[in-house]
Amino acid sequence: MEDPIARFAAWLADAEASEPNDPNACALATVDQAADGSACPDVRMVLLKGFDDRGFRFFTNLESAKGRQLAAVPHAALCFHWKTRRRQVRVAGPVVPVDPGEADLYFATRPRASQLSAWASAQSRPLALRAIFERELEAMDRRYPGAVPRPPFWSGFRVVPSRIEFWEDRAGRQHHREVAVPGDGGWRWSLLYP
Ligand SMILES: Cc1cc2nc3c(=O)[nH]c(=O)nc-3n(C[C@H](O)[C@H](O)[C@H](O)COP(=O)(O)O)c2cc1C
Repeated sequence: MEDPIARFAAWLADAEASEPNDPNACALATVDQAADGSACPDVRMVLLKGFDDRGFRFFTNLESAKGRQLAAVPHAALCFHWKTRRRQVRVAGPVVPVDPGEADLYFATRPRASQLSAWASAQSRPLALRAIFERELEAMDRRYPGAVPRPPFWSGFRVVPSRIEFWEDRAGRQHHREVAVPGDGGWRWSLLYP
């Protein structure tokens, strides 16, 4: 049976050739659980920064809304939409943190401004004035005149797919949907009505 990770790689490569920007952007859905036990979905865009048999990797602030939600409920869904190709891919499954060493390696590849921003941004928490953030950025620039280390509160996650769905536009809303789920010794594919 075809490997859905290989199919995803082919679709992403197509998107890299056709999309005007951020072909690796996807919506990340998490579960926002309140103290009283009620749960609401939450969703925002992130950039996919690697994928393989282990899952789909992205990076963020661990103390952000999504970081706290994933710590409480380690399950997520991703949705890619490549407008020019009229394709969608949905991935869902449990989420695991990446190893600190792996996060260090990725953080080291980021531009310096992004590294300083990771330190200066208390992501998702209230900011009284834009100038406060700008002062923090300057302070971090002075604190780390050389290499910028990875903040302990910034790292990555992998969504381990328990389901990957490929959707392609067809005329007359007669779209084509195929879903792959892990089975005994491989992936099991099936079709879905559009
Ligand atoms: C195209 C795009 C890509 C983004 N990529 C990331 C990302 O990789 N990591 C991240 O933390 N935020 C990313 N953001 C910002 C998030 O959408 C979001 O505003 C931020 O992470 C805070 O989300 P939260 O409050 O739900 O935690 C991106 C936004 C856009 C529009």
